[in-house]
Amino acid sequence: MKKNHILTAALAAAFLYQAPAFAADAPAPMKLAAAMSSSPQQETLTPLEHLTLGTVLLLEKERDAFEMQQVFRMALYFRPLRRVYDPNPALIRKGESPNVEKTYVDRIKKVLGPDMLKRIEQTKLTRADMLNYLERHHTLYNVDWKKDPTFALLEYAVNDFHEQIAPPNTIDPKHKPDFYIADSIKSISGKNAGDGKKLFEGICASCHGMDGQGRFPPIVMKSYLSLHSDHEHFEIVKAGPPQKLGSPVVMPTFDNKLNEDQIWSIVQYLRTWEQNWADPKNVRRGEAEAKAAKVKFYSTPEIRKIWEAKKSDVVLLDLQSDIAYRIMGHIPGTMHIRPDDLDKKLGKISKDKEIIVIDMFGSQGLAPATELAKKGYKVGYMSDGMMDWHISRDFPVEY
Ligand code: HEC
Repeated sequence: MKKNHILTAALAAAFLYQAPAFAADAPAPMKLAAAMSSSPQQETLTPLEHLTLGTVLLLEKERDAFEMQQVFRMALYFRPLRRVYDPNPALIRKGESPNVEKTYVDRIKKVLGPDMLKRIEQTKLTRADMLNYLERHHTLYNVDWKKDPTFALLEYAVNDFHEQIAPPNTIDPKHKPDFYIADSIKSISGKNAGDGKKLFEGICASCHGMDGQGRFPPIVMKSYLSLHSDHEHFEIVKAGPPQKLGSPVVMPTFDNKLNEDQIWSIVQYLRTWEQNWADPKNVRRGEAEAKAAKVKFYSTPEIRKIWEAKKSDVVLLDLQSDIAYRIMGHIPGTMHIRPDDLDKKLGKISKDKEIIVIDMFGSQGLAPATELAKKGYKVGYMSDGMMDWHISRDFPVEY
């Protein structure tokens, strides 16, 4: 396992938010490795386990057979599956699609394509192969792979995918800046989410905001949390997220400053936000201002109707980063402007059209939408972002 393995859990996200364009690898099909042939043990795997294990082993042995886009997409589609098997009782699953497993298995199969899929299906993988894989990966903290093998398999698979999409140069954790923590904060023991809140507000809030919805990924949003496991968050806090050299703000590592209980309490606190969002008084940062400026909020199905009607007086304006627009996917036919270029390119849109702003998590587009409304544009906002359109609802996307 690579030295930087613990960093990789967050790579897709970190990469999507700020990385510039990267060159996709050219595919070069090769033979399925011997490691994938049948094992003496006959115990069969469930179809999901077989598909997951077959895919990661193929990736491991024949990296060049996969295009970068495939790896990206599979990392995304394995995440909701992992959530189905996550033993964490604090996860909210209510209201989430009952067909998660079928939906994402189908999508993964589509990304693999008929040839790779056939090879995976024809490979006889048994429980012994799966245990072997789990054993090789068991260093990932706090995944009890003996007790929850299917979850562990999915968690490790997501990690393996992320490792493949690592930007080549990330800041070494040991070169990350030191961070001062006051003794009064250091002495909070980390018994529970309440301690986690105090630790978060005393340490993390300086960058992420007291509400966790600062300018970095909005780490308390439900849409963000739904894609991240607690284990992933633990590793991010311990080692800092992977960041590119030259990043303007670098997140420190906390493994030498906080003990594991303290880190876990922060992770638990972040998770409580999934519940918090059920309370109508917890509105997103910027939501009240946007509504005051008369930005109209649309649900994802409403946007789908508008999109299908192809109305000439509506502009669907996607404000995701370039990489997210291209790799994470966008609604076909939308206009794309990078948030930084918005002022420069705004002239292209006439004021008698309604501009509907689209972002990734249903949070970061609120401020620009409000600004547009204040400038006199008629503005709408797709309330739940591409996470809902693409990942939750599986509505049409283009890359
Ligand atoms: C000095 C500023 C700073 C501090 C303090 C800080 N962070 Fe961060 N954090 C960042 C930056 C910058 C990013 C964005 C990294 C990226 O995407 O490149 C980030 C990203 C994250 C992410 C998302 C990573 C991903 O890729 O999905 C999480 C989760 C996170 N921080 C949690 C925390 C927690 C919890 C604390 C407190 C223990 C904390 N951060 C303290 C600056 C900070």
